[in-house]
Amino acid sequence: MNTSHNRVEVLHGVNLGALGRRNPEHYGTLNLAELQTQIKRYARELDLEVAFFQTNDEGEYVERLHRLPQVADAALLNPGAWTHYSYAIRDALEIAGLPAVEVHLSDVTGREDWRRHSVLEGLVIAAVAGKGPEGYRDALELLAERLGT
Ligand code: DQA
Repeated sequence: MNTSHNRVEVLHGVNLGALGRRNPEHYGTLNLAELQTQIKRYARELDLEVAFFQTNDEGEYVERLHRLPQVADAALLNPGAWTHYSYAIRDALEIAGLPAVEVHLSDVTGREDWRRHSVLEGLVIAAVAGKGPEGYRDALELLAERLGT
């Protein structure tokens, strides 16, 4: 049994596996593996254990959230476009019941109107957007505070 309370899972959703090939104006130039290396560095500085998950399948994302309490103490979510309409993902996060922060690489508040709405509002500690990879550090800091690490 794991007795630590510092395990954060980073859950990337639809199209985040294509980072590096997406519009660099919004998403920067790092691919997902490079972004994850950066996130690992941030996590190490904060004494957090970090694990990663990415899928383009909404059902898989939901199932991962259902299992999350068995393997993690907190969640950092970037669900991609699902953020804006998947109430199934919102419900699954509520079922998981873990402290969570939402991150977006791009400034979702300054783009198309449909990106302004997040189904995760009210469930997450905070939503960090428009700060690129650095936003993940902010999110990890918030989770570290909440976990008391
Ligand atoms: C995103 C923003 C979403 O609107 C978009 O659909 C994505 C990525 C971001 O990280 O900026 O796929 O979540």
